[in-house]
Amino acid sequence: IMTYEVWYEGLHFPDFDYSIEGIKEACTKFVIKDEDTVMVSYPKSGTHWLIEILCLIHSKGDTKWIQSVPTWERSPWLETDLGYKFLNESEGPRLLTSHLPFHLFPKSLFTSKAKVLYLMRNPKDVLVSGYYYWTTSMFSIKPESLEQYFKWFIQGNVPYGSWFEHIRGWMSMRHRENVLLLSYEELQKDPRSTIEKICQFLGQKLNPEELDSVLKNSSFQVMKQNKMSNYEILPESVKNQQFPIARKGICGDWKNHFTVAQAEAFHKVYQEKMAGFPKDLFPWE
Ligand code: A3P
Repeated sequence: IMTYEVWYEGLHFPDFDYSIEGIKEACTKFVIKDEDTVMVSYPKSGTHWLIEILCLIHSKGDTKWIQSVPTWERSPWLETDLGYKFLNESEGPRLLTSHLPFHLFPKSLFTSKAKVLYLMRNPKDVLVSGYYYWTTSMFSIKPESLEQYFKWFIQGNVPYGSWFEHIRGWMSMRHRENVLLLSYEELQKDPRSTIEKICQFLGQKLNPEELDSVLKNSSFQVMKQNKMSNYEILPESVKNQQFPIARKGICGDWKNHFTVAQAEAFHKVYQEKMAGFPKDLFPWE
């Protein structure tokens, strides 16, 4: 297997559709507009799920958009070559996705009124999801075992770097009026209220039927069948690759994977790295 590693500012990026020049340009030159909606997450936190929800809210539950345009075109990833191109070509309010850590994100965000949704997920589930993802797709160095990936994750030696740094950085934005914190866990626990909360944040009013449609069409089962969301069709740049986006779609799968020793080791690191944050900020605590 050939691995083309992309590094920028000490961070390791996946090696499809990313280039050092592209990432640099996105981080230093991209201009966020007031009318943009920005969806930020650490990879494997449920990004695609939230994108589907945002698209369905935007279309008021109408499924035409999510059934005719692929995810990466509906809400392009800012730091990918293709995504950057789409964003620069599009006119009017944009929906955009990014996994960039806070310190690398284009500075134009901080003076804009763009709405930002930060999605987080229990890092233990992020770890397990990432292990399967990077093992199945060949977009990064393939871990030999969960044990090895566990070490890499703790060290931040994985695509987009440390989960802990990501969350710490973005949490500094949490008191801003134009920032909404969301979690995979609350979406699982009460998708309807969470979608209502998102609508309110975005200033969108949906009637009950429209809300039903958002709920139904963003469900794991429906998304898994949607060719525009499940990567059954792929961008030209990643033909013949595998994109295992819809895997299990549950909370707490880490319990089926971590040994007792791993759970303890993780807990210890977590306590150290997350010291200082109020516990009720994170639904998995
Ligand atoms: P698992 O690997 O734990 O199943 P991302 O989109 O950030 O890459 O995150 C992928 C994770 O979100 C995967 O987690 C995937 O199964 C889950 N996911 C995707 N769509 C979902 C949905 N509609 N409902 C619940 N989970 C979903």
